[in-house]
Amino acid sequence: MNDIGLIGLGVMGKNLALNIGNKGFSVSVFNMTTRKTKDFIEKEIENRDITGYCDIESFIQSLKKPRKIVLMIKAGEPVDGMIEKLVPYLDKGDLIIDGGNSYYFDTIRRIKELNDKGILFLGMGVSGGEAGALHGPSLMPGGTKKAYDLVEDILLKIAAQTEEGPCCTYVGDGAAGHFVKMIHNGIEYGMMQAISEAYDILKKVLKLSSDEIADVFGRWDEGELNSFLMEISSKVMRHKDEETGKPIVELILDKAGQKGTGKWTTEAAFNIGIPAPSLSVAVEGRILSYFKEDRVNLSRKINKEYPKDSYDKEKIIEGLEDSLLFSYLILFSQGLWIISEASKDYDFNIDISEVLRIWKGGCIIRCEMLDFVGEIVKRYNENVNLLNDDRALKFLMEKTDSVKNVVNIARDFYIPTLVHNTALDYFFSMIEERLPANLIQAQRDFFGAHTYNRVDKEGIYHTVWE
Ligand code: 6PG
Repeated sequence: MNDIGLIGLGVMGKNLALNIGNKGFSVSVFNMTTRKTKDFIEKEIENRDITGYCDIESFIQSLKKPRKIVLMIKAGEPVDGMIEKLVPYLDKGDLIIDGGNSYYFDTIRRIKELNDKGILFLGMGVSGGEAGALHGPSLMPGGTKKAYDLVEDILLKIAAQTEEGPCCTYVGDGAAGHFVKMIHNGIEYGMMQAISEAYDILKKVLKLSSDEIADVFGRWDEGELNSFLMEISSKVMRHKDEETGKPIVELILDKAGQKGTGKWTTEAAFNIGIPAPSLSVAVEGRILSYFKEDRVNLSRKINKEYPKDSYDKEKIIEGLEDSLLFSYLILFSQGLWIISEASKDYDFNIDISEVLRIWKGGCIIRCEMLDFVGEIVKRYNENVNLLNDDRALKFLMEKTDSVKNVVNIARDFYIPTLVHNTALDYFFSMIEERLPANLIQAQRDFFGAHTYNRVDKEGIYHTVWE
């Protein structure tokens, strides 16, 4: 009898199975395409205690009770399809763990549906890509504590390890795990877009070569901007195409793909009513990039005049570093605020300090800034809005001039800076006592008698405008 079962031998599934095997657990694996299971067992498992099964029934019968089955399959319909196939063979008290990037409302529904059948279900965010799955991902399981307790020993061992412990924790009730992973991805989109905007400026304003940009990214990665995404961006910039010898990044088509988690993050923000413009705009950036043909046609119609001034290279690089730090903190601020509110709205009971701790290793958004953010969050665990903290405010204020300069220079060169710019506008909005929303209220009242409140007295008012 094996300790755990895993379904789905795509890149993530295979590596997770190998990781579990490395930690001394016995694993049963199953894949819808039998050839994949056979190839995996024949070529990849080496001396690990991993057994492949070609039909669901024998796969399930190979597992110790209560059975624990990890699904590493495509989110959406395939997860429901697989659950349907599994249920007839499962007993009460068995556990299914969905390790994909599932939509949190689907997870809430599945927990309920399976609970009615006496089957436990965990929605688990798994971050770290291929290498993470094999060597130690950040794991974000959510559901009932009872379900989590069944697999805690395995999860803690296979997760990335940091000085502060394994990068796995019981994230919270219901869809807490998938919700937190979704926000992780929203922040991931934002960081990726912010770094890409910095690359655009280094290339188009300072005319740096790809190797020079790799050096700048490498230097930043050694400082306060230390982060997995900065590290890989430096490696990406340096990589040459084998065929042409050119930097591969310059040969890659500028159309960014997406699978939905960034979009869901922005939808969650809208649904809950928390402003998250920098997270939203990072998704918009990808959508915009997709319209390549339109962009090419329009760019040919416009005669862009670029400034002739020469710029102090080091000053711009320093300013960009500040602007990225500013953007990172704003992205975390927006993301954590959504988690904080969602935790209350959906009764997730998320300990955000713990979330930040498990993001310190294994995951895509791991970065040095998490220490600073973690310190702040410890003080406001219930209502997390980083901007309410004086140290965060000081950090941002000190960098505001740099962000203004970066955004202005970018403007002069017609370079869009969606995340850097929006981070600044968000910050300015949040530190502004009086926004022009009074005029919006007046306009609403003018055309629709929507009424308004006044600053000088209590009550609801309407004006006959004409
Ligand atoms: C991770 C990643 C991972 C996946 C993203 C990519 O944490 O390991 O977030 O889950 O790479 O979902 O998403 P897009 O295809 O939407 O960029």
